[in-house]
Amino acid sequence: MPDNEKSGRKTSRRGFLGQALTAAGTAIAAPTLLNQASIAKEATQNSQGEITVKLRVNGEQQTLNIEPRVTLLDALREHLGLVGSKKGCDRGQCGACTVLIDGERVYSCLALAVMQEDKNIVTIEGLAKGDTLHPVQAAFIENDGFQCGYCTPGQICASVALLDEVKRGCASVVTADLTSPPQLADISEKEIKERLSGNLCRCSAYNGIVAAVQQAAGQTPPSANADVMVSESGEIA
Ligand code: FES
Ligand code: FES
Repeated sequence: MPDNEKSGRKTSRRGFLGQALTAAGTAIAAPTLLNQASIAKEATQNSQGEITVKLRVNGEQQTLNIEPRVTLLDALREHLGLVGSKKGCDRGQCGACTVLIDGERVYSCLALAVMQEDKNIVTIEGLAKGDTLHPVQAAFIENDGFQCGYCTPGQICASVALLDEVKRGCASVVTADLTSPPQLADISEKEIKERLSGNLCRCSAYNGIVAAVQQAAGQTPPSANADVMVSESGEIA
């Protein structure tokens, strides 16, 4: 690892993430990612420049020998064989790599694996309980929330986090009344779209995704038929 990265990791990492998040327009994810700027544990490099990293992924403890520069996304896909998280842009702009870390959504392409020790990482592979799908997974299927499906793992992980954020009373930038945060029972399409704006779908399966989130939130979703459109204002047309 370069000396400047070792000595200035906190500052340079924070600046880098800030830039990437501004480009992606994902204000909600910013605090989560910025919190990752904590210094990773001291580790000893072997002759290949690798270090030993212990990760808890989907409830299982994993030990990896990887270079310190390896991202969490590459660690999951290339070293653990968890290929559900997708690599779209590899630069924090599409959300296809979204996973949950300690319950909050994170772009795993922007997170170094070495910084995730002692944290609880959940990928799309960890959401179902045996043969029972997570309610958000089931809602995506029932509401046609995917077409090619490439973005779907990230969309689902982000939706799971979205619902938890609403349960915790977290506001978004489109929350009209900050003294009365949105509730799951009445969270609007506009809120759902804003809160998922960090996840792009080139197939434009957005209407089904919004309907899936509504269903998972306990609402009655609009028809998943293609004639239901969500306008820019967030209104159902
Ligand atoms: S692959 Fe991580 S945001 Fe696109
Ligand atoms: S379903 Fe194809 S990119 Fe989203």
